[in-house]
Amino acid sequence: MLGAVLVLFILLCGLGNAIIPKQAKQFHKPKSILPEHYLKEVRPPTYKGKPLKIEFSMTVVDINSINVEDMDFRMDMFLRQQWTDTRLQIPEEIFEYGDEYVTLPTHIFNNLWQPDLYFLNSKVVEIATLTHKFSSVTLYRNKTVRYSARMHAIVACQMEFQYYPMDIQICPLSIESFSYDNSKMGLKWSDTGVVVSPELKLLQYHIAKPLVLEESDIYTNEKNGNFSRLVVNFRFERQIGHHLIQTFAPSTLVVVVSWFSFWLSLDAVPGRVTLLVTCLLTLVTMFTGLRSDIPPVAYVKAIDLWMAGCMIFVFSALSEFVIVKVLEERYKVYKQKELSEANIATQWCTTLAKSGKSTYTHEPNTWLPLCWKTKNGVEKVLWCEIDRMSRSIFPVLFLIFLVVYWPLLITGKSSPILIV
Ligand SMILES: *[C@@H]1O[C@H](CO)[C@@H](O)[C@H](O)[C@H]1NC(C)=O
Ligand SMILES: *[C@@H]1O[C@H](CO)[C@@H](O)[C@H](O)[C@H]1NC(C)=O
Repeated sequence: MLGAVLVLFILLCGLGNAIIPKQAKQFHKPKSILPEHYLKEVRPPTYKGKPLKIEFSMTVVDINSINVEDMDFRMDMFLRQQWTDTRLQIPEEIFEYGDEYVTLPTHIFNNLWQPDLYFLNSKVVEIATLTHKFSSVTLYRNKTVRYSARMHAIVACQMEFQYYPMDIQICPLSIESFSYDNSKMGLKWSDTGVVVSPELKLLQYHIAKPLVLEESDIYTNEKNGNFSRLVVNFRFERQIGHHLIQTFAPSTLVVVVSWFSFWLSLDAVPGRVTLLVTCLLTLVTMFTGLRSDIPPVAYVKAIDLWMAGCMIFVFSALSEFVIVKVLEERYKVYKQKELSEANIATQWCTTLAKSGKSTYTHEPNTWLPLCWKTKNGVEKVLWCEIDRMSRSIFPVLFLIFLVVYWPLLITGKSSPILIV
């Protein structure tokens, strides 16, 4: 009996031994590119523990809505990161004949170690998805892994509007590893770097190319370490065309129209007042319309200076009218008074003809003569003279304003030092 049990036991054990190793062997057979003890949480080993080099490149497909309200912009891009994971076992069979690489489905990527890069100044980043995520993994014979994805990001940008509407916004996009400092991981722009799609058109801006790429090691206080960082500076130059047509040309015309009042006679009081007040109101309306384009900022913008300049000109024309009108009234009164006074009725603008100098006729208690006579005996009336001089002084002053304003704006925007 005991013997029979023993025999059965030995038989069973033998059977077990015969079966189990076979299963185990099947299990150990490398079914994947990952070795048995692959830990995807651990950084790929490098020669002498040097920082793992990650090459990064980017193709910008689209940049849309540069949003001045929220100070950000949206972009769509293809990202590529490339690194070498020496632990991978790459069987020859997976490459098709003559190929240097093989493209793998993205779920493989979830089993691989991945660099934990992130955009420092992005508000939202997401991988584009239709039915699946737009991303792929490419494996090279030399154990280089390349991950590409189509991404959509909202990137924060500190914008400055001092030179609006000729402003240049420099928007950096910074990429850093979240947890590996520069002794573990080094970031590098690949040879292609950042490419902006040549079809890309922006409504108001022009993207200056080539983009400025930076690689640096930066001490990060929050993470208490030196981190390798990649930066690409996008440079958006606002194109002046829109504002030239919408703002600068009309406001210049309004200022020019306001000068027409100097040719209108003072009898046409309603005509002159209407012209000048309409000009002033038009400018105010234009100015108000501009406000919707950019957020209310605390400092003075170039366009504010322009509009202020235009308004000062129209306002001066209006003031000139009031002054001239007052002088004319006084002159009329004065003329009547002198006419009624018999002793000087013949000459209400006295002259010292003998001395040959032009002399002034002063109304009592005024420092400006209302009228005077020149050498040739031509009577000059003050208010007429003011009107006549304004006809040339206003355009000349406006020309000086133009000559000062535009060069300062154009040179200043490229070397931002000037203006307040
Ligand atoms: C591996 O091969 C790819 C494609 O030829 C190349 O881009 C990459 O730089 C290589 N990696 C290394 C570490 O040589
Ligand atoms: C970061 O780099 C600086 C300059 O190279 C060095 O002085 C500093 O000790 C580094 N900090 C850390 C935490 O490694």
